[in-house]
Order: sequence, then C-alpha cells, then structure tokens
Amino acid sequence: MSLRLRLNLLVAALNMGFLATLTWLLVNEHRNSIQEEIEAAHRVTVQMLTNAAQASSVFGPAPLVMVNFLQGLGRVRANDIRLYSADGVLRYSSPPSTYKEGRRAPEWFEALMQSKAEATVIGLPGARIEVAPDASRAVLDAWDSIAAIFLLGLGFVALLHGALLLFLRRLLRPTEADARRLVATTQELAENREVMRLIEAGIEEERKRLARELHDELGQSVTAIRLIATSIARGSEAPGVVQGAGKVNEIAAGLYDSVHRIVRELRPAVLEQPDLAAALQDLAREWRVRHQDVELVLELEGDLGDLGEALTLAVFRSVQEALTNVLKHAAASRVRLSVTRGDGTLEARIEDDGHGAPTALAGSGHGLVGMRERVVTLGGSLDTGPAADGGFRVRIVLPLPGDSE
Ligand SMILES: Nc1ncnc2c1ncn2[C@@H]1O[C@H](COP(=O)(O)OP(=O)(O)OP(=O)(O)O)[C@@H](O)[C@H]1O
Ligand SMILES: [Mg+2]
Repeated sequence: MSLRLRLNLLVAALNMGFLATLTWLLVNEHRNSIQEEIEAAHRVTVQMLTNAAQASSVFGPAPLVMVNFLQGLGRVRANDIRLYSADGVLRYSSPPSTYKEGRRAPEWFEALMQSKAEATVIGLPGARIEVAPDASRAVLDAWDSIAAIFLLGLGFVALLHGALLLFLRRLLRPTEADARRLVATTQELAENREVMRLIEAGIEEERKRLARELHDELGQSVTAIRLIATSIARGSEAPGVVQGAGKVNEIAAGLYDSVHRIVRELRPAVLEQPDLAAALQDLAREWRVRHQDVELVLELEGDLGDLGEALTLAVFRSVQEALTNVLKHAAASRVRLSVTRGDGTLEARIEDDGHGAPTALAGSGHGLVGMRERVVTLGGSLDTGPAADGGFRVRIVLPLPGDSE
C-alpha cells in the first residue's frame, strides 16, 4: 500500500471516529434532556388534572364539567389527554400539536430516543382521564439539531481532509533539487557501470592476447624442444644422452600441458562460442580430473546457450573464482554448482559443505569484490552467506536482457 493511500485511510478513519464520537455525545445529551423535560411536563399536567378532577363534581356532573374544562384548556405541552366515560366511550381527545406539524423524526431515531415515561390514568366519578406523554416534538427537535450539526461536521471534516491531503502531497513531492540530484546520481551510476564494463572488456582482451602469445610462442617453442630432444635421442647411442633427451622430452611434455591449461583458463571455450552450459560442463569435467577429493555436483536448468557473451562470461568467471575459493578456503568434500534460467533472470549458486567463512570476510581478497563488480555492472546482485549444510554460499542473480520488462 502506498504511503499516500495509507495516510488517506488514516486521516479518513480519524475523521470518521471524531464524527461518530461527536454524534454519540449529542444523542446521549439530547436523550437525557428529553427524558427530563417529558417527565416534568407529565408530572405537572397530571397534578393539574387531578386537582381539577377533584373539584369538578362541585360544579355539576363530573364528566361534563371535565370535558368543558379540557376543551377550554386545549393542548398541554408534550401530553395527549383523553377522557373516557365509565362505559368506555371516548368523550374528549386533546388536539394534535401544531408545532412542526406533519413532520416526524425517522422511526429508528425515535426508537433510539424514546422516553420511558408511561401514561397515567386519573379517575373521577363516572369517567377516567388518560394522560399519555408525547415526546415526538422534542425528538423531532433533537433530530433537526443533531442532523444539522452532523452535516456541518461532515462538511468541515471533508474540508479538513482535503486540505491535509493537499498539504501532504506538497510535502511528499520531491523538490526540483531532489529530482536533479537523482538524475545526476543515476547518470553517475550508469557512467560507472560503463567504465566497469570497459575495464572488464579490456581485461578479457588482454587475457586473449596473453593466451595467444603463450600458445603461439611458448607452445611452439616447447614443441620444438620436444622434437629436438626426440631427434637427439634417436641420433645417439650413448645411454646417458638418450636418458637425458628422454628427461628433457618428459619435462617439455609437462610444460606443454601446463601451457595448455593456462591457455584454457585464460581463454576458455566459452569465449569462442558463448554457450554457458557447455563451458560449465567443461569446467566440471576438468575439476573432476584435477580435484578428485572434492565432489562437484553440477545442476543446469533452462536454456543457457544464448545468453550473450557479457552475461555468459560474467557467470563463468564468477563461478571460476567461487570454485577456486572453495579449494582455497573451504576444506570442503562437496560443492554444488547450480545455474537456473528463470523468468527474466539467471541465478547461479555455488554452495559447499566446508567450514564456512568468518562472519566478517577478510578484506584482503579481490575475488568476491571483483565478482560483485562484474555482476553489478550487468544490473544484477551477489550475496554470500552460510550454505544450507554449514559451508559457504555464493548466489548471483542477473537480469536477462530482453527477457525482462
Ligand atoms: N567457499 C568459501 N569457504 C570459506 N570461506 C570463504 C569461501 N569463499 C570465500 N571465503 C572467505 O571470503 C574471503 C574473501 O574471498 P575473496 O575471494 O574475495 O578473497 P581471497 O580468495 O582471500 O583472495 P583472492 O580471491 O583475491 O585471491 C576469503 O578470504 C575467505 O575468508
Ligand atoms: Mg578468492
């Protein structure tokens, strides 16, 4: 959820809470005052009619005298008055209130406010008077006043909300200086990456040249030495010479192998035809010949044949360094190398079961730093940490150009 939306919701919730509390307080206040007012008006009315009823028989037949009296009295505030004769016939009913005539508060509101006062019956000879409290006018007054305050409050709160959000938007909007700084930093970053890429390319170019020189110069010279040694051995009968020439041949053969190995490392097959799967399989094959005491498990997933030279090389060189680190630092018996082509990304993991790295990696090495630089140059990330089975783990994630976005 965005910061702006969160702030919006928070302000709205606070405002609603404020309105609800205000309404609740008003409803309570009005309910209490209506209750008090209705009870008081009812008490006074009952008292007055009781007195009148007692005096009525002095002036003639009580029901008739009372009806005349009530007609003269008219409507009494907040009370309905009815007079019934002894046989239950309605002889008088007070007129309805003319105040806010024809209007009532909504039913639910009336139910919420309903006063608890009950009707009172006053007896007199030959008749009875029923006095029923009627809170409907007071409830309507309360409804009108609460509705007006609520609407006013709602308008005010909406206005406040709008003003606050406008203010927040201004506050959160990056200033022009921020934007300029951001653009400058992004440019700088892009330039740094470009410089890194050029350096990497330069280093690879230099490696290529060295590999060529080694192969062409040293490789051919060693071959020449071997040929000469062989012809010396053939042309001589002296056992010392034959043995010496054989030794030279043997040493030259060893030298030849070494030169070839160095050339392969400097210029692996991966550079000729950037197929990461083939290059890693080559690397694994060589590893298994040379380091039989450390088992290498290779897991490749997805098509790794068309990743392009930059990406293929970055992964290959990083894997080379991570595997060298395993030999140098881990004392492992097993290392797992997995490379997976996923949706828009390529992930490479090198995990060993050695003793793991010290928590603060020694700052002396260049391997991990170089790896990270390569990977970051291509917009990826590298992280290191403890592996699942206790050793060390290197994880590289690289975006696939063209696959993503
Ligand atoms: N597989 C591993 N197991 C245990 N520790 C490791 C492993 N890989 C790296 N480390 C630790 O991380 C440190 C940094 O590694 P890095 O490759 O950067 O440097 P280095 O190998 O010491 O030197 P360089 O690579 O420059 O020759 C190492 O010194 C080592 O302590
Ligand atoms: Mg290293």
